[in-house]
Amino acid sequence: MKAVVCTQYGPPEVLQLKEVIKPSPRHDEVCIKIHASAVTASDIYIRGSQLPLRFRLPMRLALGITKPRKILGMVLAGEIEAVGKDISRFKPGDQVYGVTGFGLGAYAQYKCMKETDSMHGCLAQKPATISYEEATTAAYGGLLALQRLEEGNVQPGQRVLIYGASGTSGTMAVQLARYFGAEVTGVCSTRNMDFVRSLGAHQVIDYTKDESAHLLTSYDLMLDTAGKAKTSKLKALCRASLGSIGKYISIDDGKLELKAARLETIREVIDAGAIRPVVDRTFSLDQIVEAHQYVEQGRKRGGVAITIEHESLG
Ligand SMILES: NC(=O)c1ccc[n+]([C@@H]2O[C@H](COP(=O)([O-])OP(=O)(O)OC[C@H]3O[C@@H](n4cnc5c(N)ncnc54)[C@H](OP(=O)(O)O)[C@@H]3O)[C@@H](O)[C@H]2O)c1
Repeated sequence: MKAVVCTQYGPPEVLQLKEVIKPSPRHDEVCIKIHASAVTASDIYIRGSQLPLRFRLPMRLALGITKPRKILGMVLAGEIEAVGKDISRFKPGDQVYGVTGFGLGAYAQYKCMKETDSMHGCLAQKPATISYEEATTAAYGGLLALQRLEEGNVQPGQRVLIYGASGTSGTMAVQLARYFGAEVTGVCSTRNMDFVRSLGAHQVIDYTKDESAHLLTSYDLMLDTAGKAKTSKLKALCRASLGSIGKYISIDDGKLELKAARLETIREVIDAGAIRPVVDRTFSLDQIVEAHQYVEQGRKRGGVAITIEHESLG
């Protein structure tokens, strides 16, 4: 099968499309024919050298010292091709989506993984009303956003501020918070104001303008989906506006939980037509270097998907 191999840690050019052995499922694994993957902020951290040493070191001890031992890629959407004898949740032909966590391996035509949740991934039936590419945004951005909104215990009528509303998790967080009945304020840059409004934010605030400060009010929850590395003068003011009762949650506080139950909730909300994941750009597997170069700029709107062809690649 075709897969993207990472020849060493470094810039996007270390990624190469190669022919590798197709995996076979063990008794407790499914084999997924992958139709779409995604390039995420996490993939950029794993491949490159942007993470502070205290995070990079344990990651490299786990994944490989000089180069990753595994095929990269954390997000997938595809079809179950084969199942091991102990599999009960899925059957061949089921359309699925999920996150592979430390199992990685989604930049490939096939991936074998367990059907049960673990640090090596979680898997669920894919929303029927969206494409495989959209499902990758739903999986990664949706899991990140839903976990944090649940931690924030968002209730109808509460005022929720989503900082970094235009990214993969931000776009899902705005829509999910609105679905939960919150009054949503999205914070983004000037070029994304109309886009974030179109996601259903009641109010949109531009973090690049000093005069935005007077638009801030009190909030029950501030969810920072941009991550601690991305900041602005307004971000500090948003936090200050929370007062003594408002909660602040960063997407970087604690690990992403890989839970199929959350993927199932996200599927129901999407198939009810309440929210729609956003794909900024789609690349093919042989454009993986360009896809990483694009995501590395940190300016994506929603998610960036990789379409994985089977017919033409053989
Ligand atoms: N805890 C965990 O286990 C875990 C797992 C995965 C990811 N994460 C975190 O999640 C973060 C977000 O990932 P993501 O993929 O959702 O984000 P993302 O899509 O990479 O974010 C891109 C968006 O951020 C906006 N942005 C850039 N700088 C900003 C700033 N200073 N203030 C506000 N918005 C800004 C950009 O819009 P503009 O160009 O308009 O500014 C762009 O739309 C990652 O960076 C990582 O820190 C945590």
